[in-house]
Amino acid sequence: MSTARCGVVGHPIAHSLSPQIQQAFAAQFGRALDYQRIDLTQERLAEGVREFFAAGGVGLNITLPHKHAAAKLATRLGPWAQRLDAVNMLTRAADGSLDGENVDGAALVRDLSERYRVDLRGHDVLVLGAGGAGRAAVWALLDAGAQRITVVNRHPAGADALVDAIGRPGLVHSRYWADLPNIGSFDLVINATSAGVLGEHLELPFKLVTPRATCYDLSYGRAAADFMGWARAARARYAFDGLGMLVEGGAMAYARWFGDTPDTEPVFATLRAQHPQA
Ligand code: ATR
Repeated sequence: MSTARCGVVGHPIAHSLSPQIQQAFAAQFGRALDYQRIDLTQERLAEGVREFFAAGGVGLNITLPHKHAAAKLATRLGPWAQRLDAVNMLTRAADGSLDGENVDGAALVRDLSERYRVDLRGHDVLVLGAGGAGRAAVWALLDAGAQRITVVNRHPAGADALVDAIGRPGLVHSRYWADLPNIGSFDLVINATSAGVLGEHLELPFKLVTPRATCYDLSYGRAAADFMGWARAARARYAFDGLGMLVEGGAMAYARWFGDTPDTEPVFATLRAQHPQA
């Protein structure tokens, strides 16, 4: 079997765990994989992606800050990518055209429902943040049958635009950040802000959390530490970071590229040991 070429594109990209994840998946199937981190600035993105696929590349994971710009490079967008106008993976089709899809939300739902056994159907959910990650989370939680979703964004326009785009006010609605102390309690609280990544502290009231609540941060490691600490202090029943979401999203990309469904559990266990939950 010849060596397949894949990679992850972002800027910066040096700390991406995707090479380790994809190599572990490839090893499960005895596949030879050349998977590189590819650092491209905004100016070089289109040219770098074209060069990669022209040279026979099979697929790319796309990460920050290029998810929106890379959607413009796809010939076709899958249903998730269309909704979000953003891709997190590009796949070369047999005729050389490019398929773009965004599995961020699906990966979150799979991590929550399969790894952590959260039955999303009965949940009253609070999503903090309405940027790219927040939008992906809200659409996916809605599809997964969440009972009610409240979206709160620091600048209310972002949450309002998302709620309007969804257009189901009884199911998904927005509230002001300043109202957080007065909007009640939730049994699933998702942190989809980039505050942790930026090293900023989120000031959140403890009473957002019911005693049986699950709190989940889409990031992992140091970036998730502030929110995880808050969740524990608020006496949430469970606090999880987004490492599992990263692994599940990687598995979805691998399955799309090669047609094999990897076993994510051993890969997650290895990464968890190397990157303990904050
Ligand atoms: P991502 O793709 O990670 O979602 P993004 O699209 O830049 O990145 O969105 C960042 C999100 O984090 C936004 O919801 C942003 O809120 P604003 O739209 O109001 O800027 C939110 N965010 C970033 N820093 C924050 C902070 N210190 N407090 C609250 N929200 C913050």
